[in-house]
Amino acid sequence: MAATATFHVVMFPWFAMGHITPYLQLANKFAERGHKVSFFIPNNTQNKVNHLNLHPHLITFIPLIVPQVDGLPVGTETMSDLPVTKSPLLLRALDLTEEQVEPLVQKLKPDFIFFDFCYWITTLARRLGIISIYFSVVSPVAEASLFNPRFFDFKPFEAKGRSFLSTEIDGRISFINRLATSGRESEALCYRGCSEMEGPYCEYLKNVYNKQVLVTGPILPEPSHNPLEERWSKWLGGFEKGSVVYCAFGSECVLEKNQFQELVLGLEQTGLPFLVRLKPPVGAETLEEALPEGFQEKVKGRGIVHGGWVQQQQILNHPSVGCFVSHGGSSSIWESLVSSCQIILVPHSGAQFADTKFMSEELKVAVNVERREEDGWFTRESVCEAVKLVMDESSEIGKQVRANHHKWKEFLLSEGLESSYIDNLIIKLQDMLK
Ligand SMILES: *[C@@H]1O[C@H](CO)[C@@H](O)[C@H](O)[C@H]1NC(C)=O
Repeated sequence: MAATATFHVVMFPWFAMGHITPYLQLANKFAERGHKVSFFIPNNTQNKVNHLNLHPHLITFIPLIVPQVDGLPVGTETMSDLPVTKSPLLLRALDLTEEQVEPLVQKLKPDFIFFDFCYWITTLARRLGIISIYFSVVSPVAEASLFNPRFFDFKPFEAKGRSFLSTEIDGRISFINRLATSGRESEALCYRGCSEMEGPYCEYLKNVYNKQVLVTGPILPEPSHNPLEERWSKWLGGFEKGSVVYCAFGSECVLEKNQFQELVLGLEQTGLPFLVRLKPPVGAETLEEALPEGFQEKVKGRGIVHGGWVQQQQILNHPSVGCFVSHGGSSSIWESLVSSCQIILVPHSGAQFADTKFMSEELKVAVNVERREEDGWFTRESVCEAVKLVMDESSEIGKQVRANHHKWKEFLLSEGLESSYIDNLIIKLQDMLK
């Protein structure tokens, strides 16, 4: 009964929540169909994602101890604990886990290893007779544009924001080369994406690597059974339908203080109610000390700036929330696409620039905040303008992006789409075992 045989996958995502979460979402889809997953994760990060493991009898977390590296603060486990500029230190720690990983893989004897930045796993897997699959949480659009920047017209600040991807730090392999090696040495590539949306980019990557490109479909967040915390549902419930602007830049992004201030001042200027979730900016211990003088008094009752974690999915689905301003991280993009919110993007690093261009120039479902070409600087006026452009009822652009977004949302949520993608993926994986 080869067609119904279950398999065992080791998942080994990069040490960042934006990678761990989509890996776990895919793990849930496999487990839902009876397949077994052993999930490598930094030891103390496990308790942050336990609640996302919906099939604990089939998905087992395998803790890794993040090795000590000079310059890496003790206790660092994921990119949430570290500024982006220090990522080479954590990459080095990732590479040093090989000693722990090899005996584990040997003992587990999985059929497949899904991995992303850990490029050396391909050699280990081949030696042990295991099929390695490069599973990228970077979109096909963003990855294709790494190899061929001509897909988009990047402005100087965007090119600069992407340049670290190709830089070797301390003589160590660059991001681009990690991805390229992973792609070249693995047995197949797998992307979180839909061919209806990103087909030409998948085709391009298939030709670059000359191997099978699998797609998972949208892998949407499971509908959460936890209701939104009362303090937020009560507060949001006090506003009109679709009127609140929600702004969040993910778990890693730290803004410069003056950009942080322009952002909140721009939201204030819109006159709309707003809820902001941001980390304190560079050089500040707390959000409060970084806010413009008297800001909280001025916006009392209609604006909140919050530093702690919030239930983003539930907030985006709250009827009062009508606009989502984000940094264009890949999870935020998927969450925004299946919400009814108008989408505004202010990308900050790496893949976000290409994803943003794809959303605003190709799919035309989002609007960008206007920025200075040389350094990406944005003003409160440009933040306010972008919000008004999508929120004013009379705005033509607002209507256009709403209509385009609606079309894609309907598609992504259409009955059976997600499960047929996963079923197809599983058939292709089983074919590889034959
Ligand atoms: C690993 O996690 C366990 C359980 O959370 C904890 O007791 C232990 O101290 C951790 N080990 C290290 C080296 O962090």
